[in-house]
Amino acid sequence: MKEITLALAKGRVAKQTLAILEEMSVKFSEFTEDTRKLVIWDDSKKVRLILVKAVDVPTYVETGAADIGIVGKDVIMEDAKDVYELLDLEISRCKIAVAGFPEEEMEKRSSIIVASKYPNIAKRYFESKGRQADIIKLNGSIELAPLIGMSHVIVDIVETGNTLRENGLVVLEEIAESSARVIANKAGYATKTEEVQKMIKQLREGMAKIN
Ligand code: PRP
Ligand code: MG
Repeated sequence: MKEITLALAKGRVAKQTLAILEEMSVKFSEFTEDTRKLVIWDDSKKVRLILVKAVDVPTYVETGAADIGIVGKDVIMEDAKDVYELLDLEISRCKIAVAGFPEEEMEKRSSIIVASKYPNIAKRYFESKGRQADIIKLNGSIELAPLIGMSHVIVDIVETGNTLRENGLVVLEEIAESSARVIANKAGYATKTEEVQKMIKQLREGMAKIN
């Protein structure tokens, strides 16, 4: 078997994915939640894990730096890359939604100002509704934008809803559902079919054991 490289987002996705693989006896003993290491081999030295930022996972996979990656559907929707999407891991479930103040009446505005970490998703969504929108790209703390009058609404992910609640905001419209997906490099899938399929099988079976 050839070695394969797996790109994971640091944080919860990495932790949950490794718990799934551990069910299948693929162990990364060197991994700890607070590790600063960026490359970690599994104990049998068959799988090389690289820990990257979530938004960069598709880039590592598209360029072939990683054979496989695990990343949220939100990231894939925002910046589609030329990769295969092979499995829904059903972790990191959340909604992509338009949110704002409960009294917000978007339909009464001639143009809506939208703050988002997902400018492409936001643009496509408002275009599909035939509504004029100006998008302001932010990189975090999106919920702040309506609070300080920077935007009328936001487009962001909602998981528990706590951030919205604590800031007096509500979901106004749901755009899509998201969860972590397994993606693969196209050329790598051709040259390492057996290894990639084995990893997919381990993820699928490990997922079933956990649930
Ligand atoms: C994410 C997201 C929402 C929040 C959703 O932000 O952008 O703000 O989590 O989760 P909740 O519904 O469970 O509150 P994150 O914590 O990653 O911080 P950031 O927006 O500053 O990047
Ligand atoms: Mg946030």
